[in-house]
Amino acid sequence: MIKGCIFDLDGVIVDTAKYHYLAWKRLANELGFEFTEEDNERLKGVSRMKSLEILLEIGNKDFDEETKIELAEKKNGWYVEYISKMDESEILDGVKEFLTELREKGIKISLGSVSKNAMTILKNINLLPYFDAVIDGTKVTNAKPDPEVFLKAAEELGLKPEECCVFEDAVAGIEAARRANMKVIGVGSPEILGSADKVIDGFKGITIDILNL
Ligand code: G6P
Ligand code: MG
Repeated sequence: MIKGCIFDLDGVIVDTAKYHYLAWKRLANELGFEFTEEDNERLKGVSRMKSLEILLEIGNKDFDEETKIELAEKKNGWYVEYISKMDESEILDGVKEFLTELREKGIKISLGSVSKNAMTILKNINLLPYFDAVIDGTKVTNAKPDPEVFLKAAEELGLKPEECCVFEDAVAGIEAARRANMKVIGVGSPEILGSADKVIDGFKGITIDILNL
């Protein structure tokens, strides 16, 4: 039986992928190459430094470690500027209603994101009170598809991995949930997220029945 739900943030609770994209595109353009929305798909669920590696590979550029850290910080500065303007209106449809129902029925809720900006976003959109635990990029060393982020979330909720269900929009995240021995519901398109136990296109109209997997 499912006793806890673990939510990824970017692309599940809010559509921050567009802000990540704008910031990475700005960096690519500054470095003299193009970066498309299709390229951006490869960065979903991937850590900041790994994302930079992929971006530089696309642009056929290479830099020493120190410069790479500076570039990642530059991108993050722009990203932080974008997300500082976020508010409740950016919570994706149906998310709040679903979280409310889970709380009412005694299901524990955790965040499971590798973003170091997760706390800022949860606070800006006023969703922090819904979470019993928040595991983010400041608490893990291994990014998805490593299961660390989800295992830590289960531990903090006081649950066994098999009692948890993960909600994820990224292929790397679905693999991480599998490796953690958890059920996983994909949020997005079945063509991309086919390896999940179930795929939904969003939370509008979704009820606790979805957990009968
Ligand atoms: C999430 C997003 C990725 C992002 C990563 C790190 O997994 O899907 O696109 O690169 O978090 O985010 P951060 O806010 O720490 O740069
Ligand atoms: Mg995501």
